[in-house]
Amino acid sequence: MTDPASRDGTPEDSPQEQKQAPSREPVRLQKVLAQAGVASRRASEELIAQGRVEVDGKIITEQGVRVDPLSSVIRVDGTRIVLDDTLVYLALNKPKGMHSTMSDEFGRPCIGDLVASRVDSGQRLFHVGRLDAETEGLILVTNDGELAHRLMHPSYEIHKTYIAHVNGVVSKGLGKKLRAGVELDDGPASVDSFSVLDIHDGHSLVKVVIHEGRKHIVRRLLAEVGHPVEALVRTKLGGVHLGDQRPRSLRKLNRNEISDLYTAVDL
Ligand code: URA
Repeated sequence: MTDPASRDGTPEDSPQEQKQAPSREPVRLQKVLAQAGVASRRASEELIAQGRVEVDGKIITEQGVRVDPLSSVIRVDGTRIVLDDTLVYLALNKPKGMHSTMSDEFGRPCIGDLVASRVDSGQRLFHVGRLDAETEGLILVTNDGELAHRLMHPSYEIHKTYIAHVNGVVSKGLGKKLRAGVELDDGPASVDSFSVLDIHDGHSLVKVVIHEGRKHIVRRLLAEVGHPVEALVRTKLGGVHLGDQRPRSLRKLNRNEISDLYTAVDL
């Protein structure tokens, strides 16, 4: 599939002009697919004929079916196609020292600084959840309120991966203990997985996967088991990886990443 809508994970460029919201008129399926950048109209007709296109859970093989581009859920080869091209999905590598807010009353560096030109040009962007100012790494920025709301809702149990540099040499049984759960001030907490990546000079590098969103949860958990965190980076959220994205940089999520997020929250 071609993807001219640059949802290909390339670095984000200058702010785009505000686009028109899609119309509510029913539109032919092949036209909708072409407009979403899936393939040309001709190639979209072939995708339909091959039974690779699903509308609201039903495979469509007939040509000329009309759909509502705003409300239909369309998938090609199982991948959800975002039809509203006013929606923006960005991955930010938040640097250490930056606050997870859109503005800061004390003038401290915040996420809002990095998207100021987009917000000024009318995009109603917000960050999905927070990282502590001292924590670096992946944070999503979007104007898709429904997706953001669900990603933050505990019932969807979105997995987040953190790499923590901790004080002390972690013991063999620590993973088991953290998976079983540890009592914190505000109730028990557990990790989904824990592994040791490195041990050196009385410090350890560990990987923690957790679906909890309570404040300072990784730092509090590791401190509770005797290993205060010295540095913390979030490297993955759902199916989205931080990869080698530079600190402060924003990149557009690709089609598969967006589709994975939608699927993870039943959209
Ligand atoms: N856990 C923390 O301790 N800090 C974060 O920023 C995120 C998870």
